[in-house]
Amino acid sequence: MSIRLGDIAPDFEQDSSEGRIRFHEWLGDQWGILFSHPADFTPVCTTELGFTAKLKDEFAKRNVKAIALSVDPVESHVKWIGDINETQNTAVNFPILADADRKVSELYDLIHPNANDTLTVRSLFVIDPNKKVRLTITYPASTGRNFNEILRVIDSLQLTDSHKVATPANWQDGDEVVIVPSLKDEDEIKQRFPKGYRAVKPYLRLTPQPNK
Ligand code: BEZ
Repeated sequence: MSIRLGDIAPDFEQDSSEGRIRFHEWLGDQWGILFSHPADFTPVCTTELGFTAKLKDEFAKRNVKAIALSVDPVESHVKWIGDINETQNTAVNFPILADADRKVSELYDLIHPNANDTLTVRSLFVIDPNKKVRLTITYPASTGRNFNEILRVIDSLQLTDSHKVATPANWQDGDEVVIVPSLKDEDEIKQRFPKGYRAVKPYLRLTPQPNK
């Protein structure tokens, strides 16, 4: 099944390097990042999971839990975690789903047969506390993902969920933001954005980033 933005992230129960996981229950009321990698004991995947482990504090600040997935069994994940910790100078601090029966891979459309018949692609889903899918990406096996970009998108989602703003190209936390085009009432704009705004065009109005 392909997953689209706004869909409820499918729930499942599966084994992992940290025991059996009931996904929605495991997420609780936090944000989640579910990401698949092609296989254990492969170089790019080793760097991706190592980097993700190093983002622990950044995830905690944003109330985010991470969970990885491949079709390798639990014993493989556990051995590989030793390699990740050793080579990436970190300690893996999130579960890796052992989707040997491909239950989750099928639910989330993670095997793309025209790319590879048996291995999962590098997909990633950001899931909000209402269990809605808010970001999907899929990268080829040969390209490691930029997890700082995932943090940037989560910053944007969390900001734009609570203010009538959107974030422009290459925005970073603290930069100017865009007032949403649907907000036209000048009194409401003044009340929501007391620091003012500048209109580059009537539809492109920039304002200092509101407090989160
Ligand atoms: C890797 O993680 O290095 C990798 C995995 C599958 C294909 C190519 C590279």
